[in-house]
Amino acid sequence: MTRKEFLSEMGAATLVVCCGSALLGMEGCSEIRTYLPKVRKDKAIIPRSKFDSKDNYIVLRRSATVPANYYVSLQKDGSFVTVEMVCTHRRCELRPSHAMLSCPCHNSEFTTAGKVIVGPATEDLQRIKTTVDEDNVYVWLKNNLLPAG
Ligand code: FES
Repeated sequence: MTRKEFLSEMGAATLVVCCGSALLGMEGCSEIRTYLPKVRKDKAIIPRSKFDSKDNYIVLRRSATVPANYYVSLQKDGSFVTVEMVCTHRRCELRPSHAMLSCPCHNSEFTTAGKVIVGPATEDLQRIKTTVDEDNVYVWLKNNLLPAG
C-alpha cells in the first residue's frame, strides 16, 4: 500500500467515525460504537459477539425502525442494560464519555446503567426492556419502558 492510499483510507475511516457522531447530534469527533441492528418482531437484534470487556457497549441510532438513540451495555455482573440517551433534566441528547454518559447541556453524568451520578439531573435514565439468549441481545422497541429504580 502506498502512502497516498494509506492516507486516503485513514481519512475515510475518520469520516465514518465523525459522521456517526454527527448523526447522534454529538459535538466533536470521537469514536462512538454505533450499530445498525436487524429488527424482527419489534426487537433490535445485536449479536453478543459485539460486546466484550473492552468494547462493552453499542449505540443503536435512531432510524426508521429504532425510535430513539439507545445505549446498550454489558455490565460487570454480566447483565445487559439499555438506556435511552436522553437526559432527564431537560432532554438533551447524551453522549458516551469514559464509561459513563454525559450531558453536553448542563453537565449531568450517568452511569452506563442509567443512574445519576452528577446533577442537575435528579432522575435516572429511562431503562428499556432488554433480553438475551445464547447468541443475541434483544432490545425491545415497543412497549419497552421499564419502571424506574
Ligand atoms: S439537559 Fe442534561 S443536564 Fe440539563
